[in-house]
Amino acid sequence: MIGMVKRVRDAFVHYLSRDPEWVVRAPGRVNLIGEHTDYNDGFVLPMAINRAVYIAGMSNESNRVELFSLDYDANESFGIEEIAELTPNSSSWVEYIKGTMWALKSAGYPLSGWTGVVAGDVPIGAGLSSSAALELATARACECASEFLWDGTKMALLSQRAENQWIGVKCGIMDQMISAQGIKDHGLLLDCRSMHGRLVSLPPKISIVVLDTGTRRGLVDSIYNERRVQCEQAASDMSVSSLRDVDLPELMAKENRIDSVIFRRAKHVVSENTRTENAAVAMGIGNAEELGQLMNESHVSLRDDFEVSSLALDAMVECAQQQASCIGARMTGAGFGGCAVALVQTVDAENFSSKTAEHYKRSTGNNPNVYVCKATNGAERL
Ligand code: GLA
Repeated sequence: MIGMVKRVRDAFVHYLSRDPEWVVRAPGRVNLIGEHTDYNDGFVLPMAINRAVYIAGMSNESNRVELFSLDYDANESFGIEEIAELTPNSSSWVEYIKGTMWALKSAGYPLSGWTGVVAGDVPIGAGLSSSAALELATARACECASEFLWDGTKMALLSQRAENQWIGVKCGIMDQMISAQGIKDHGLLLDCRSMHGRLVSLPPKISIVVLDTGTRRGLVDSIYNERRVQCEQAASDMSVSSLRDVDLPELMAKENRIDSVIFRRAKHVVSENTRTENAAVAMGIGNAEELGQLMNESHVSLRDDFEVSSLALDAMVECAQQQASCIGARMTGAGFGGCAVALVQTVDAENFSSKTAEHYKRSTGNNPNVYVCKATNGAERL
């Protein structure tokens, strides 16, 4: 973190020949369990990670936003009045900033101009929510420049609106909520219906290891949207407003009357909600074994019933599970490529990381990246 703060600060001084007034940071996330449940009003259990987007900035006494991106080596500038209309463009980095400001503005937040240097160390497109991190960092930068009252849940909902309507990606609320509300050393059990969150401590002597398969799949958005439609279909077949309102016995009783694909999608969501609540209970009593078991089961359900895993993700999860110090592993995020997450005994975390990466590379030929992660605070002014 210190390295990244220095990087944006130094660049700010270089470009503007003065110190920034503020530096903000908003993290990426890894989801421990509760996958494809957020848009079904269900439960998720993510944590904010020590990889984030940073902005060093100052108010510029104008109506314009002036930006320098170190990652893209690019400058952008726009007038705040220009973002009054909903004008979805590309998914270029600056659109996440414009979209968030559009959502803040349309919710009535007073916005004034600022100048900022942006950089991040959340790998882009890996399923660790680099976009939510950029949205929440933007919201924090606006708070610094315009001095409005910060409300994490409201900021998360507006960032999600930016992503849904400005960028055009129909994500749920998990990524923005954890980037806004994460707390150091904790996971967050979030009820995506009430938006009520409960902090849960990570089990002692356990590390969370993110395993990037190095694979990215195109058409993720369209497959994601297709899963959403299938879940809506399942809810309608069960005569409820969302799958949150169904339990497993109720679903099983209707198996013969529901299309088999729709049934399997629903089975994943309904069973994943139960696993996620049970995982929070297990964490509450420091039972890492139980949490690991639930993670393993979650992977099987995502692979076989929800069908959002991939050969690379399955291979990574298997390589992880073969290591003696691994307590559980699963794919994480939307799926189809990207990352897996493993629960590992801290004493062996480094050895686990290199062994798993080596086995995975040997069996698939792909180049993995491995991050031993810490749970951090959500969007903050440093
Ligand atoms: C993506 C979305 C989230 C969530 C996950 C799957 O990360 O942005 O809202 O739906 O996929 O759990």
